[in-house]
Amino acid sequence: MDTAATTQEQCVLVTGGAGFIGSHTVVELLKDGYSVVIVDDLSNASEKVLDRIDTIVGEEAAKNLSFYRADVCDKEALAYIFDNNTITSVIHFAGYKAVGESVAKPIEYYTNNLASTLTLVDVMREHGCKSIIFSSSATVYGDPDVLPLTEASPKKNATNPYGWTKWMIEQILTDLHSSDPEWNVVLLRYFNPIGAHPSGLMGEDPKGIPNNLVPYVAQVAVGKRDAIHVYGNDYDTHDGTGVRDYIHVCDLASGHAAALKWMDGRSGVEIFNLGTGKGSSVLDVITSFSAACGKELPYVMEPRRAGDVTANYANCIKAKELMGWEAQFNLDDMCRDSWNWQSNNPNGYEG
Ligand code: WQD
Repeated sequence: MDTAATTQEQCVLVTGGAGFIGSHTVVELLKDGYSVVIVDDLSNASEKVLDRIDTIVGEEAAKNLSFYRADVCDKEALAYIFDNNTITSVIHFAGYKAVGESVAKPIEYYTNNLASTLTLVDVMREHGCKSIIFSSSATVYGDPDVLPLTEASPKKNATNPYGWTKWMIEQILTDLHSSDPEWNVVLLRYFNPIGAHPSGLMGEDPKGIPNNLVPYVAQVAVGKRDAIHVYGNDYDTHDGTGVRDYIHVCDLASGHAAALKWMDGRSGVEIFNLGTGKGSSVLDVITSFSAACGKELPYVMEPRRAGDVTANYANCIKAKELMGWEAQFNLDDMCRDSWNWQSNNPNGYEG
C-alpha cells in the first residue's frame, strides 16, 4: 500500500527558512505544493526575503507560507507553532555558521546549535512529528584520505566548534532513531553552497566581511572590496590553490525537496552528500566569476588559512540512485547567478 501523502497534505516547518539555503528551499517546497512554516529569529537574515519568496512563487503558492519570528531554543514558541499548525516534517537549517567566529565563541556556538536542535526534537516528539532533515556539512569528513568522498567515508575530527556542532547533531539524531525507530532522519551533507536565485531576487547576504570565497569575490566584483585574498598557492592541486565542490544553492534546494519526497512514509537514518562531484580551485572560481562580470578581478596571494584542507569533492551517486537527484548547474552558472544577485543588490536585502 502506498502510504505517501500528497504534497498538498503536508506542512513542512523550515527552521532558519529566511536564511540563504533555507529561503531557496522554501521556494522549491512552495512550488512543489507543500505548505511551509518558517521559524527564524532573523539574527542572520532579513525579513525582506519573505516578500521576495512571495514574488518568485506567485500569489497562490504564497498563501501556503507562514512565518514566525522566534528563536528555535525557545521551547514555548516552538510548541505554539506546533499547536497551531499540523507539521508533518521539519527541515532544520537554523544555527550559527561562521567557522572563525565559532573558534572565538565556542560556548555560544555549542549552546545555540545544540540547544536549538534538542529543543526542536523534544517539541517534535511531544507533537508526534518524527520526520526531520538536518542541514549537515562535508566538514564532518575532516581532512579526507581518499577522494571523492562517499557517505561511507569516515567521519573525522572537526577542525572548529562549528564543524563539531554539525558532527554532534548528526550523532544526536542517529541516537534518537536508535531510541525510537519510528524517527525518520535524513542527514544532508552539503559541500560548498554558492550561487543565487536566477531571478536575482534572493542570494547570500553576509554581514560584515565575508568569510567564504564567493561572497568575497562578489563584493570585489561590485567594487566594495579591493582585491581577493587567495589563501595558499602551494597546495597539491592543479594550480596550487584549494579545491572545493561548489554547488548551486538552487540545486541544494531541489536536493531537499527530493529528500522530502524520498523519505515520505519511511523511517531510519540516511545520509546523502549534496555536491556536484566536480572540484574547482580558487583560481577556477576567480576565472569563472571574472567572465560572469566581464572584468578581470584582482587577487593577491596570501599564506594558507588555518584549518583549510587541500581538496574535497563529493561522490553523489547515492543521491542519484536513491532519490533521483543530481546537480544541474555548473560553476559558470553559479557565478553568473551570484553576480546577477550581487549587481542587482549591492548591499544585499538592505540595499
Ligand atoms: C573555499 C576555498 C579557501 C576565502 C566553509 C566551511 C564549511 C561550509 C562552507 C558553511 C578554500 C579559499 C576562501 C577567501 C580564499 N560551511 N578562500 N580566499 O572553507 O571550504 O568551507 O564554508 O556554512 O563547513 O568550512 O569555504 O568559501 O571559506 O573557502 O582563497 O577570501 O577558498 O582557502 O580553499 P570552505 P570557503
